Amino acid sequence: MRKIILLIFPMIALMAAPSAYEQGKKLYFSKGCNGCHGVSATGSGQYPSLAYRRKNVLVDKLKRLRNKQGNTQLAQLMIPIAMTLNDKQIDEVATFLSEYHENQKHTYVPDDSMTVGDGS
Ligand code: HEC
Repeated sequence: MRKIILLIFPMIALMAAPSAYEQGKKLYFSKGCNGCHGVSATGSGQYPSLAYRRKNVLVDKLKRLRNKQGNTQLAQLMIPIAMTLNDKQIDEVATFLSEYHENQKHTYVPDDSMTVGDGS
């Protein structure tokens, strides 16, 4: 019995801890990244798209910006924000962005909830 408890407990602890993806998602919205890079992290205009990019590239870019390494005027917008992120947070937000899978969750529409008429 004790052996089973010893086995199960770490599994529960692992399941209860929010994943890096979830933490990164929280950070993305609480830090206001969505304000510039968009709610789906696809960017627009001068704001680069971040979703689906390689994690190591995102981590590298964020660490450079945090070190004030950015010679464009646009980088001046991003540097103060990057400076508020610690290594763990950079890892989490990069996990969220590289593994991005938010949109797929909302694509299934069951037949019985379809609107009838022109929808207005
Ligand atoms: C005030 C607007 C603004 C906010 C808020 C903002 N960014 Fe940015 N971000 C930018 C701009 C502008 C650039 C492009 C900088 C450049 O061209 O050098 C950028 C660049 C980046 C890059 C590098 C992308 C690349 O291809 O070079 C990453 C990664 C990034 N932002 C992540 C984030 C994260 C994560 C947050 C939230 C913690 C965030 N940004 C919040 C404006 C913003």
